Amino acid sequence: MSALWGGRFASGPAEAMALLSASTHFDWRLAPYDIRGSRAHAAVLHRAGLLSEDELTRMHAALDVLAADVESGAFVPTLADEDVHTALERGLIERAGAELGGKLRAGRSRNDQVATLFRMWLRDAARRVTTGVLDVVDALAGQADRHPGAVMPGRTHLQSAQPVLLAHHLLAHGQALLRDVDRLADWDRRTAVSPYGSGALAGSSLGLDPAMVAADLGFDGPVENSIDGTASRDFAAEIAFVLAMIGVNLSRIAEEVIIWTTAEFRFAVLDDAWSTGSSIMPQKKNPDVAELTRGKSGRLIGNLTGLLATLKAQPLAYNRDLQEDKEPLFDSVEQLELLLPALTGMIATLRFDTDRMAELAPAGFTLATDIAEWLVREGVPFRIAHEAAGECVRAAENRGVGLDELTDDEFAAISPHLTPEVRLVLTVEGSIASRDAHGGTAPVRVAEQLKRLRDKVSVA
Ligand code: ARG
Repeated sequence: MSALWGGRFASGPAEAMALLSASTHFDWRLAPYDIRGSRAHAAVLHRAGLLSEDELTRMHAALDVLAADVESGAFVPTLADEDVHTALERGLIERAGAELGGKLRAGRSRNDQVATLFRMWLRDAARRVTTGVLDVVDALAGQADRHPGAVMPGRTHLQSAQPVLLAHHLLAHGQALLRDVDRLADWDRRTAVSPYGSGALAGSSLGLDPAMVAADLGFDGPVENSIDGTASRDFAAEIAFVLAMIGVNLSRIAEEVIIWTTAEFRFAVLDDAWSTGSSIMPQKKNPDVAELTRGKSGRLIGNLTGLLATLKAQPLAYNRDLQEDKEPLFDSVEQLELLLPALTGMIATLRFDTDRMAELAPAGFTLATDIAEWLVREGVPFRIAHEAAGECVRAAENRGVGLDELTDDEFAAISPHLTPEVRLVLTVEGSIASRDAHGGTAPVRVAEQLKRLRDKVSVA
């Protein structure tokens, strides 16, 4: 079998040329989509009077056999095939004969084919990734559910800041991931247009209906502009960003698990099934799932920036550079498909040491803001209240005690407004319960948030 463009060439490609050009080692995964596209294309050729009823029937039958042979591995590409589209045309001709098989290429080009098939593959992949991300959200929600009252030191700058509910913290990660799910759905809305029928760039002269192919392939409609349809890959860059963002969001969870499971923190213990040992240090239990998550997020960012660099400054319309669009996306999807189930398992089985977290929740004077806000409720301007609370911290620090261990006299010496009633807010539970505005860490608010998040997961 020769290439699809043999006519004007006296010789075949040099071997190094063929090796450089070949893409079947990665674009073969588009084969089922290419065959679906061919079925739809045969139908519009028939509609346009370019294939008889009988030819259409035989064409579809040959494509069915080809699809089964691709699936079973009975038909595979060779180096001479160059790409998936060329290989499948060879396969079709082997099954339908050169006369009928050779008719299918009318009115289409590999340029509009590949732009369409790549969208189809990515749309399916986005649905799989969505399911995987929702599983992570579900694991976070499950932990939040199991620890409704557990408290922890909330941090800013990694320094102890204010006590929060563990569930509140876990759901913060859930919210970020739900936005990623939303991004994928939004991306799909823009990507659901079909370039099929754009031809090489200028559109078809054969009376073929792009809207019919689009509907057949599950798109909302055809692209508006055949040049844009064959030359644009912003749909690929956009989902590469969303996949990278998912990786980055997962890496933030991963980083915390790595920190929480250190001997210094001891906030959580990894389940044996989701951790690894060391070949030399018998005591080790390593958070490899979390580390690989952190590491792979860098790779996903690389796939995004690599693709953007490939796209930059390409003149319209199709350029062969665009063949470089697929591997980074295949890789990002593949990595997430490895990562998401493992991270879900790791999160779902994490055992939190809630006593340890509760012990550290007030450490580092995390209730200082509560003193200041209590003073504000007593009518003290915040600037003065902040100052007084700061003096309480200094006094407690000097004596090596907690804020709640300051004496009534010490409080009174700092400010006449600091009556013994201030102790009401000097407990972690009191502090947490007091932050009861929408989105706050009070148990009632977190329970409501968990419920709304679960509702979103169930409709996503
Ligand atoms: N394999 C190419 C790609 O993935 C499609 C073929 C277009 N080649 C061409 N010479 N017009 O982009």
